[in-house]
Amino acid sequence: MRRLWDILAVVGVFVVLAGSISATRAATHTYNITKILAEHPEFSTFSHYLSVTRLAGEINRRRTITVLAVDNAGMASILAKHLTLESLRNVLRLHILADYFGAKKLHQLTGGSALASSMFQATGDAPGTSGYVNITDHRAGKVTFIPKDADDGTVPVAFVKSVKEMPYDLSVIQISAVLTSPAAEAPVAAPAPVNLTDLMSRKGCKAFADLLRANSDVENTFGASVDGGLTVFCPGDAAMKAFMPKFKNLTAEGKTSILLYHGVPVYYSIQMLKSNNGAVNTLASDGTSKSFNYTVQNDGEVVTLKTKIVTATIKSTVIDQDPLAVFVIDKVLEPRELFKIAVDAPAPAPVAKAKAKAKAPKASKDTASPPAPAGPEEAPADMKDSDNAAGRNDGRWVVAAVATVAAVAAVGIY
Ligand SMILES: *[C@@H]1O[C@H](CO)[C@@H](O)[C@H](O)[C@H]1NC(C)=O
Ligand SMILES: *[C@@H]1O[C@H](CO)[C@@H](O)[C@H](O)[C@H]1NC(C)=O
Ligand SMILES: *[C@@H]1O[C@H](CO)[C@@H](O)[C@H](O)[C@H]1NC(C)=O
Ligand SMILES: *[C@@H]1O[C@H](CO)[C@@H](O)[C@H](O)[C@H]1NC(C)=O
Repeated sequence: MRRLWDILAVVGVFVVLAGSISATRAATHTYNITKILAEHPEFSTFSHYLSVTRLAGEINRRRTITVLAVDNAGMASILAKHLTLESLRNVLRLHILADYFGAKKLHQLTGGSALASSMFQATGDAPGTSGYVNITDHRAGKVTFIPKDADDGTVPVAFVKSVKEMPYDLSVIQISAVLTSPAAEAPVAAPAPVNLTDLMSRKGCKAFADLLRANSDVENTFGASVDGGLTVFCPGDAAMKAFMPKFKNLTAEGKTSILLYHGVPVYYSIQMLKSNNGAVNTLASDGTSKSFNYTVQNDGEVVTLKTKIVTATIKSTVIDQDPLAVFVIDKVLEPRELFKIAVDAPAPAPVAKAKAKAKAPKASKDTASPPAPAGPEEAPADMKDSDNAAGRNDGRWVVAAVATVAAVAAVGIY
C-alpha cells in the first residue's frame, strides 16, 4: 500500500491550473478538441458528449493531457445505461488523462505499466484510487487501459491508434471501448443551486446584490446565464456607495444596462483572467454599435478591467467554480455608452422610451439585426461606430484567449 501511494504521489500529480505560471514551456499550442475530432466523424458521439458535459472547454484550457477517444460504435454501451449527465461527465473524465501519452511513450512504459491520473480523480466524486487509469504495455506491443477500481472481470480496453499528437500539450488517441467503473457511474448529487445574490451579499457585494434583487429582469438574466457560463464583476460595497448618486441619475433602462454590464456570459477562472488580455462582451452587449464591452488586462497577479471611463481592479473572489465565477472589484464599471469620457460627466440626458424593460440583449439572436434592445437613450454623441471589436464575438475573447491559459506543469516521469 505504501508503495502504491508513492507511485500515485509521483505519477498523478494533476497540477490543476497552478497559479499563473504562464507558459513554462516554450511552445504552447492553441487547440480546440471539438475541431480536432470533427475531422474524424467516427468520434462524433464522443465529441458531442464532451461538449454537452462542458468537458471540451476544460480540455481546451488544459495542457499536458491525453484524451482517450472512443468511436461511435464504442459509445453505444455507455449511452445504453442512460446515466445522468453528471455521471456521464464523470465517466468521460476517466478518458482525460493528466499527462501526455503519445503512441511512442505508450509503447515504452517504464516497468511495463503506469498509473495515470484522470480528470475524474481531480473531482470530489472519485473515492480512493478510482480516478486512476492503469496503462499496461504488454510484451507483444499491445497497450491496454483499465480504470484502477474497475469491477473484477472487466476486460481492459486496447489502444487502437494515435489520432492527434501535439507534443507535449495534447495527445488524442483512440481506445477500443469506453473506460468505466462503478465509482464513475455512481449517481452524482445535482449541484446545489447557487443563489447568486445571496452569495454576493455575504461576500462584500451587498449593495450590488440589492440592486439586482430590485430588478427582476436583471436578476433573472444573471440567473439564466449561469448554466452557459457566467463571470460577474461585482463592485464592492464602498465602490457602490460612492457611485449611488450617479446610478440614481440614470434612466430605468440605463440602470438595467449598467447592472447587466457587470456580467460576462462566459466562465473565466481567475487563472484565465490572469493569463490573457482582451475585450469581453457583457450581458449588456447587443451586437449593435452599443458594444458595452471592456478590456481585461492583467499585470502579473493583478487583473484590471478597463472601460473608456474607469479602470477597476479585481480585489477578491466570491466564487470560482465552472460555470460560475464572481469577483469583487473596487470600482463600478462605467460604460462609455452611458457616461461621457470627460471627467465627472453626468449621464446624457435620457430620451424616455416605452420599452423600459431591456432584456438580456444577448438573448436576441446574435447579430441578426434585432431591434436594438438597449434603446437610443444612452448614446452620447461620441459613440457611433465605437470600438466594438468584440461586438460580433458572442461573448468570447477577441484574442484567442482560452489558448494559453492552463499552464499545467508537466510531471514527466515516464
Ligand atoms: C471549436 O470548434 C467547433 C467546431 O469547429 C466550434 O463550433 C467551436 O465554436 C470552437 N470552440 C472554440 C472555443 O473556438
Ligand atoms: C497495472 O495492471 C497490471 C495488470 O493487472 C499490473 O501488473 C500492474 O502492476 C499495474 N500497474 C500499476 C502501476 O498499478
Ligand atoms: C435568493 O435568496 C433571496 C433571499 O435570501 C430570495 O429573496 C431570492 O428569491 C433568492 N433568489 C433565487 C434566484 O432563488
Ligand atoms: C445628475 O443629473 C443632473 C442633471 O443632469 C446633474 O446636474 C447632476 O450633476 C447629476 N448628478 C450626478 C451625481 O451625476
